[in-house]
Amino acid sequence: MKRLLVTGGAGFIGSAFVRLAVKEGYDVSVVDVLTYAGDIKRLDEIEGRYRFYKVDIIDIIALDEVFKKEKPKIVVHFAAESHVDRSILNPATFLRTNVEGTLNLLELSKKHDIQLFMNISTDEVYGEIIDGKFREDFPLVPNSPYSVSKASQDMLGRAYYRTYGLPVITIRASNNYGP
Ligand SMILES: NC(=O)c1ccc[n+]([C@@H]2O[C@H](COP(=O)([O-])OP(=O)(O)OC[C@H]3O[C@@H](n4cnc5c(N)ncnc54)[C@H](O)[C@@H]3O)[C@@H](O)[C@H]2O)c1
Repeated sequence: MKRLLVTGGAGFIGSAFVRLAVKEGYDVSVVDVLTYAGDIKRLDEIEGRYRFYKVDIIDIIALDEVFKKEKPKIVVHFAAESHVDRSILNPATFLRTNVEGTLNLLELSKKHDIQLFMNISTDEVYGEIIDGKFREDFPLVPNSPYSVSKASQDMLGRAYYRTYGLPVITIRASNNYGP
């Protein structure tokens, strides 16, 4: 269970996860196409202790090669178009990466007998709340193209769990902050 494939590992949260996982002794490979949001320098302090693939998760053939080479046991899927405001200007890119990219990863995880797929969703899938807090079983009411694409990613994970028995855990994180 020590072989991790982390998508979006050069992003804000993914890079913090990769730094921690490497320090905890996991064998980590990273897939990231390095969009405006990705910065490989975030992984400088663990240079040489992980493997990096500059691959777009839309490209299922290139992704399949990574799965074949790395033989991961766990996939942690952070890669996404993640900036809500940009999704208003350019929804198609969000749908491609967050929906089609996730579909590719789930399909390859099924094909390669992955033991755990961690699907990073967002609390934005619940929509807006004026008072109080969301519960996990609240209905999904996404409002922006970003949150619709993430809700689709989230539900695709559910479908692969229910339909194919792929071990999927979905995390609906609230806003992260930090250096
Ligand atoms: N930042 C938050 O507060 C927050 C809150 C809830 C959920 N999330 C989710 O957590 C995950 C990580 O968020 P983040 O803030 O680190 O995002 P980020 O934008 O900082 O990083 C995303 C990473 O994904 C990579 N990427 C984008 N498109 C790709 C593609 N097609 N192929 C391969 N790599 C691609 C980018 O290069 C970047 O390194 C996302 O799924 C996001 O939706 C973030």
